[in-house]
Amino acid sequence: MAEKIDLLPNPTEYPRKLLNLAVAMWFMVTTIGQWAFGIYILAFYGTSTVSGDFNRWNEVLPHGYVTGDWTGNLVVGIHVLLAAILVFGGPLQLLPSLRKLAPGAHRWLGRIYTTTAVIVATGGFVMVWTRGAVGDRGQHVSISIQTIYIIVFALLAWRHARARQFDKHRKWATRLFMVVSGVWFFRIGLMCWLVLNGGPAGFDPRTFSGPFLTTLAVFVYALPVSLLLLELYFYAQKAVKSVVITAVALLIFMVTALMAVGVFGAVAGMWLPRIG
Ligand code: HEM
Repeated sequence: MAEKIDLLPNPTEYPRKLLNLAVAMWFMVTTIGQWAFGIYILAFYGTSTVSGDFNRWNEVLPHGYVTGDWTGNLVVGIHVLLAAILVFGGPLQLLPSLRKLAPGAHRWLGRIYTTTAVIVATGGFVMVWTRGAVGDRGQHVSISIQTIYIIVFALLAWRHARARQFDKHRKWATRLFMVVSGVWFFRIGLMCWLVLNGGPAGFDPRTFSGPFLTTLAVFVYALPVSLLLLELYFYAQKAVKSVVITAVALLIFMVTALMAVGVFGAVAGMWLPRIG
């Protein structure tokens, strides 16, 4: 009898394969997009900083380099340069093969990643409220809320790793990755919108404000949709109903397709022209 039951096809086998495929595609698009952002950071901020041409920062940032304000300039420099560690290191940390093959490297990169995330997010918070940033108050408040998520999730990921509670650690570390990726989601979300609309819609590109940008900031930073999707994925991993697993897989495919459009838009319309 037991053998007969074992031979019965598992009804969730194909939905699970679909879910794994959707997540693999999502991870591929995310890695390509984040590393493209990293290459831009190194090529633009890395080269201008190393060559001492700090004024180039102002081609992109309205308050990038301010003559005489050494503290503020240092905060901006640290923020943008350390950001490269996050966008290159984040996808590596999620790779199960790296965790298995080189657990020591995973632990070290994890320590560097969480510390860097807290420094970059705190620096960003200081920049928003002392130097000003593009966008309006709603966007500034939203991204500031993300600083809190980043600090709290970094602490929780680290604490569970120390306590060797690896299932909880994996979940908090992945949540941390999602909120640290907020600024990247914002950029590719905006670029996807611009590609689909054939130009700016729902906001004023001169003031960088308007309903579309406020909505994007709220759902990327303050109430991150990325966290909601992640929780759906965690739920689907344990779900027993094929329809639930399939629905989550299809949702991840759809989001991945939109992200791919956004990555294309960001590379072609934002990052390449700045370093080209
Ligand atoms: C933790 C992940 C973060 C990364 C990877 C990151 C990365 C970056 C990068 C690369 C830039 C340069 C902009 C460009 O060239 O497109 C930048 C600018 C900036 N970031 Fe962040 N950032 C992060 C988090 C934050 C947070 C949490 C805040 C605010 C609370 C923040 C505030 C800013 C501000 C104000 C600027 C200058 C842009 C402007 O003047 O409008 N960042 N960031």
